[in-house]
Amino acid sequence: METSLNRLDREPKRLIMIGGKGGVGKTTCASAIALHFSLKGKKTLIISSDPTPSLSDIFEIEIGDQEKPINSVKNLYGIEISSEVVLKKWKERFGPEIYEVVSSFASVDYDFVDYIGGAPGIEEEYMLNYILELVEGGKYDLVVWDTAPAGHTLRLLHLPQIFLKHLEAATKFYMNLYSYLEKIKETVKLKKGKRSLLEIISGWEDLAEKVVSFIRDPQKSEFIVVTIPEALGVKQTERIIKDFDEYQLKVNHLIVNYVIQQADCEFHKARSQMQQSYIKILKEQYSQRIKLIETPLFPHEIKGVEKIKKISEILFES
Ligand SMILES: Nc1ncnc2c1ncn2[C@@H]1O[C@H](COP(=O)(O)OP(=O)(O)O)[C@@H](O)[C@H]1O
Ligand SMILES: [Mg+2]
Repeated sequence: METSLNRLDREPKRLIMIGGKGGVGKTTCASAIALHFSLKGKKTLIISSDPTPSLSDIFEIEIGDQEKPINSVKNLYGIEISSEVVLKKWKERFGPEIYEVVSSFASVDYDFVDYIGGAPGIEEEYMLNYILELVEGGKYDLVVWDTAPAGHTLRLLHLPQIFLKHLEAATKFYMNLYSYLEKIKETVKLKKGKRSLLEIISGWEDLAEKVVSFIRDPQKSEFIVVTIPEALGVKQTERIIKDFDEYQLKVNHLIVNYVIQQADCEFHKARSQMQQSYIKILKEQYSQRIKLIETPLFPHEIKGVEKIKKISEILFES
């Protein structure tokens, strides 16, 4: 059985998402994957949405919240997006229409948009939407998304549901408000909104559905989980894969990082033994349906293009 990511060369995707708990090497692997494809001539954007992004550290250049070429590598671009920026974009896009509609039947000031923007799930939902815009915008052949640590990624997967529930509740609330206002409209002289709130909300629902169907489409999207060969890593992996299964998102590759190659002292022998016992568990559990790819523990941190390239070569057996 193939033990590399080479299948992704044969079956190109538009979006590759990298998930896992913090510190396991997600950003390192995402960078290595993005580097691989950019060296193959694909225009590639690497996105980090981790609140503590380290793309800038890894590539040793200041990246930031604007798409930026990673100078030393042709075809490679990077962006670090924060939730504040995403929320700001959401408000720019939807704020005026929300305000227009709501202010047409109720006396609200613009702060109301902030209030809606603070609804649970909106920020993450819009993050997905924003990323999809980058994927579908036609500027890049491939987007590699270095997601925030596991908890956050899982929340993202739950989100469309939470978000739609919230919208339903909001819709009911406004429906009630509407009918109330309809009754008293003679007295309040109700103006007619250009678009109804329901239309806007159903537009958001369409958006949420579009995002979910994109990340579920195996022709377009791929999820890769990164883990470490330790008890905590195994537990987290089980949880992530179970969640992904539940949301009909297929994981085809599991990268097991920090694997000790040559244990030449008692300390490393003991550690290696411990690692191997967890690798065995992972194999028993997943090797039927998921490719396990081991990446070695290096004596140095992974910084700069040359070192990232070493990881790419291991991941893609090149
Ligand atoms: N295989 C490896 N060998 C040695 N150091 C590694 C390896 N993979 C990652 N690192 C280092 O571990 C640290 C955490 O990696 P990072 O990719 O930032 O993790 P995450 O994004 O999951 O939090 C970084 O300093 C990185 O250079
Ligand atoms: Mg990271």
